[in-house]
Amino acid sequence: MAYQAAVITVSDACSAGARTDTSGPAVCALLREAGYEVIYTATVPDERGLIARELRQCADGLRCDLTVTTGGTGLSPRDVTPEATRDVLEREIPAVAQAMLFESLKVTPRAMLSRAVAGTRGSCLIVNLPGSEKAARENLGAVLPTLAHGLKMLHGGGH
Ligand code: MTE
Repeated sequence: MAYQAAVITVSDACSAGARTDTSGPAVCALLREAGYEVIYTATVPDERGLIARELRQCADGLRCDLTVTTGGTGLSPRDVTPEATRDVLEREIPAVAQAMLFESLKVTPRAMLSRAVAGTRGSCLIVNLPGSEKAARENLGAVLPTLAHGLKMLHGGGH
């Protein structure tokens, strides 16, 4: 059975309808190409409590295997996605964020400005991506081939 995924776009402008979200749909397409079933998408403003609520709902309510966020990882005063994610994570997986950084630095030095985190809540893997479509594609592409093995372990499948 396909792993089930959720994609949360974090953006004040997109949630207000002032900008069209292209990153969320691009992330959904990449996940589907990799064999995931995308069962839930949402767009929320850069509000720590609202982001954390969506992440809890995806992990605990919908019991998604994978939840990916896009946006809000940078240094703008409103960027709080990593803080909201840490609010709900039970275990952090620093190397997933490091792997995204490692690959992204080959593309742009600005990759160092993303504070993205990844980890687990229950049996849900949660991964932050930056907000631009290009950055989201590049970061997800760096780790997506390895995530299925992580999910297998997370579900007790061992190696
Ligand atoms: N990573 C990759 N691979 N490609 C990019 O173009 N942009 C960077 C960085 N990571 C980028 C990237 C930039 S310019 C910023 S500000 C941070 O991601 C944070 O983006 P966010 O605030 O939209 O989440």
